[in-house]
Amino acid sequence: MEKKVYRRETELAYRGHHIPGKMDEPEADALYLTSAFNVKDLDEMEFVYDGGGFAYNRTNNPNRTALAEAMTYLESGEDSIICGRGMAAITTALMALTSSGDHILSDMTLYGDTITFMSSVFKKYGVDVTYVDFTDHEQVKAAIQPNTKVLYAETICNPMMLVSDIRALAEIAHAGGARLMVDNTFATSVMVRPIELGADIVVNSLTKFYNGHSDCLLGSITSTKDFIKEAYDLQTLLGTGSDAFNSWLVLRSLRTLDVRVKQQIDNAARFAAALEKNPNVRRVMHPSLTGHPQHALAKEQFDYGYGAMLSVLMADDDREKMNAFIGKLRIVRYATTLGGFRTTISHPVTSSHSGMSEDEYRRLGISAGMLRVSIGMENPNDLIEDFEQALTVYGK
Ligand SMILES: Cc1ncc(COP(=O)(O)O)c(C=O)c1O
Repeated sequence: MEKKVYRRETELAYRGHHIPGKMDEPEADALYLTSAFNVKDLDEMEFVYDGGGFAYNRTNNPNRTALAEAMTYLESGEDSIICGRGMAAITTALMALTSSGDHILSDMTLYGDTITFMSSVFKKYGVDVTYVDFTDHEQVKAAIQPNTKVLYAETICNPMMLVSDIRALAEIAHAGGARLMVDNTFATSVMVRPIELGADIVVNSLTKFYNGHSDCLLGSITSTKDFIKEAYDLQTLLGTGSDAFNSWLVLRSLRTLDVRVKQQIDNAARFAAALEKNPNVRRVMHPSLTGHPQHALAKEQFDYGYGAMLSVLMADDDREKMNAFIGKLRIVRYATTLGGFRTTISHPVTSSHSGMSEDEYRRLGISAGMLRVSIGMENPNDLIEDFEQALTVYGK
């Protein structure tokens, strides 16, 4: 049959839209960069609305679905959703878990914006939050209230690199009728899958190690099918779902997750051991070091290494020397992100933990002489030599 040629405006809208030939299984994952999908008729639209397909990007997108399936597998859950940022995942999950009058019991060392969200936004909506030291389980048990709905922890906490005992925290949460939610960003599923240890909800900033290329922001929530359905319904209304391109980028990056992160973890252990011996360094915080307060727990809980994040406490807190040190580094760059394939440093007091009182810094063990390091895939000897030559600004 001869193909009908429509008027120019119509042809301009449709030419090239359908590519003839076997195009349904490209070797690379296809990218669905579209705000909506064509639906054949009312029956098909009903089928799509029942979860059987795709209609509108805020509700659903094949790239998001593909990444969610991968995250469910990696984090050992029943289902996942992908959110536009790590913070979108954290806020969406917490909003799905709580209502006005509920209580959240949280570790006191968390990513700064998570604390700000819980303390400022949630307070406005009548959700109460208590912060205690999650490494002290008696304190945690004593702080549970009848209305506690969530215990909130990070697998490895920034910037002291303290390790949460997920199995013990899950038992405490469940005994108190609450659920354990864990941010697994610093560890990733390469090291541990919190759900396997009893956690109920796992969130990740996929911006970090999962993506690993410092070129997009994304987040995930992994849990049971029932909870993900609740979180998904809320996500659709809040509009916190991810876009197709970032989902595609992260799925592509996941293919190399284990090789990247394992090398970063190995490099971090070598780097920590070398820096600990440096006379210009007061202390290195990394769970691989036997002096780390949760070294034994980390060894038992993690099935690969001790993480690629560490903190270094310089010889003193002098700001000029810190600036001189950063300026003297030849390879390593200062950037307020982490988890990329290149090593980056950041300064907690002026970024992730800025605006806290001196008392809070003292309580958390943070000082102006502290630098957080996200170890990359470079040769570890080059990284160690770069730090050693720059550390001479501290005098030895
Ligand atoms: C532990 C942790 N969780 C969550 C986030 C938030 O992630 P995003 O920047 O993707 O919103 C960050 C960001 O640095 C983080 O370090």
